[in-house]
Amino acid sequence: MIGIVLAGGLGTRLSPLTDVTNKHLLPVYDRPMIYYPIQTLVTAGIHDILLVTGGNSAGDFLRLLGNGRGFGLAHLDYVYQEGEGGIAAALLLARYYAEGKRMVVILGDNIIEDDIAPHVEAFRSQAQGAKILLKKVDDPQRFGVAELDGDHVVSIEEKPQRPKTPYAVTGIYMYDSRVFSIIDGLEPSQRGELEITDVNNDYIQNSVMTFDFLNGWWTDAGTFGSLLRASLLVARKKGALPGGVDGAMV
Ligand code: DAU
Repeated sequence: MIGIVLAGGLGTRLSPLTDVTNKHLLPVYDRPMIYYPIQTLVTAGIHDILLVTGGNSAGDFLRLLGNGRGFGLAHLDYVYQEGEGGIAAALLLARYYAEGKRMVVILGDNIIEDDIAPHVEAFRSQAQGAKILLKKVDDPQRFGVAELDGDHVVSIEEKPQRPKTPYAVTGIYMYDSRVFSIIDGLEPSQRGELEITDVNNDYIQNSVMTFDFLNGWWTDAGTFGSLLRASLLVARKKGALPGGVDGAMV
């Protein structure tokens, strides 16, 4: 199993913080944001990792992370995304690295409390297809939202105005190697991006999508509110917030 961290895009929702640096280099409590998704993969036992990044400060990732020695890695691979073609477009750049393999894909702005190793193990024993991880949230309209029927995902809607359920699709996706031919067949969405939700819906339509729920907290960090929330959640986990400060805010 290989790991792919998607840290491209321009992060315009965080301007001016992202005017001169990449979103994933911004601090989340005491670490650059990109540390967290890499650590999530490493903790799950994944040591072959490709980082997709982009923008003006892409070289800073190399300066910061090098060969990933700080994470116990022997090497770390990089690829460059020009512009902001979407999450699925960023994943397509990983084809040369991942062709014929199974993979865990994680968005560079997704920060979680759980160890995903049990979910990765479950995916290993799945004959084919994909697995997504869901989390019940208060603001599902910000995310891909899964409609469920018992232990089946019926469909995923990207940022619906009226979500059918409170179950957000987190930015952790497990795919078999068919994912690249699915992306080959995608058309850009109304916002001009190749959408990961369209990839997931293809797996759903072919009845080869499974899901698990995350138990611990999960957040993205791509808006001012969620970036602050991410820092507070990490600080609280590290016991660094004085009593009472965090409860009202996260
Ligand atoms: O966080 C989970 C959500 O992430 C999912 O629930 C949604 O279904 C999914 O579309 C995505 O939504 P966002 O609108 O929050 O995605 P965003 O454009 O903020 O991109 C998230 C990460 O994906 C970003 O931190 C880096 C990577 N990315 C994104 C784009 C658009 C790339 O690597 N390249 C890109 O071109």
